[in-house]
Amino acid sequence: MPEKLSIVGIGGTTTPCSSTEQALTIALRAAAAEGADVALFDGPFLASLPHYAHGAADQSAEVRKLVAAIRGAHGLIIASPGYHGSISGLVKNAIDYIEETSKDSRVYLDGLPVGLIVTAYGWQATGSTLATMRSIVHALRGWPTPLGAAIRSTAGMFRDSQCSDPGASAQLELVGRQVAEFARLRRAAPAILSTGPVEE
Ligand SMILES: Cc1cc2nc3c(=O)[nH]c(=O)nc-3n(C[C@H](O)[C@H](O)[C@H](O)COP(=O)(O)O)c2cc1C
Repeated sequence: MPEKLSIVGIGGTTTPCSSTEQALTIALRAAAAEGADVALFDGPFLASLPHYAHGAADQSAEVRKLVAAIRGAHGLIIASPGYHGSISGLVKNAIDYIEETSKDSRVYLDGLPVGLIVTAYGWQATGSTLATMRSIVHALRGWPTPLGAAIRSTAGMFRDSQCSDPGASAQLELVGRQVAEFARLRRAAPAILSTGPVEE
């Protein structure tokens, strides 16, 4: 019996029960329904992380927990609000910690499926933020899933980690399923999907 897939969710804002965090929870729930173990690093957790400093020797327990989870992950789901047309500093700071894996045998997110979710008040910011997040994942050698969820959030749209918009809800669930399915494929054929050493 193979070990369960581990899917790590990173995202949210400092707003309690933010729509970004609830959107991420919906996607993670769909990944869990596919049989994956899921872990959520939410807005308050991300806010507890210090600004990333390259090579900082004394790392907090939170930093160690995040980096260990990323190292053990078979897939990631990252959710950011669109802030001024781009990814929020809070979420980008967490992503910067992936630099700690730069000398690992599996470098960065090499070969990992990464589901992406953006919430914003306007379509323009959902699109530009999603494009930025895809670029970040490519830089980290990850595989953004075919569907990225662009959610135009409105007041009251998310409650108790449910979404009142069926279309948005379906997008979020599909992102979660795609990450789990791709993670399963990658485990079956790791050499095919891994980038390996590259000249850049
Ligand atoms: C600092 C800041 C900048 C924002 N910039 C944009 C923006 O450029 N475009 C947009 O559509 N919404 C923008 N918003 C709205 C957020 O994208 C929206 O609040 C998002 O859905 C996050 O909500 P949440 O905290 O409930 O997750 C901004 C919000 C804040 C606080």
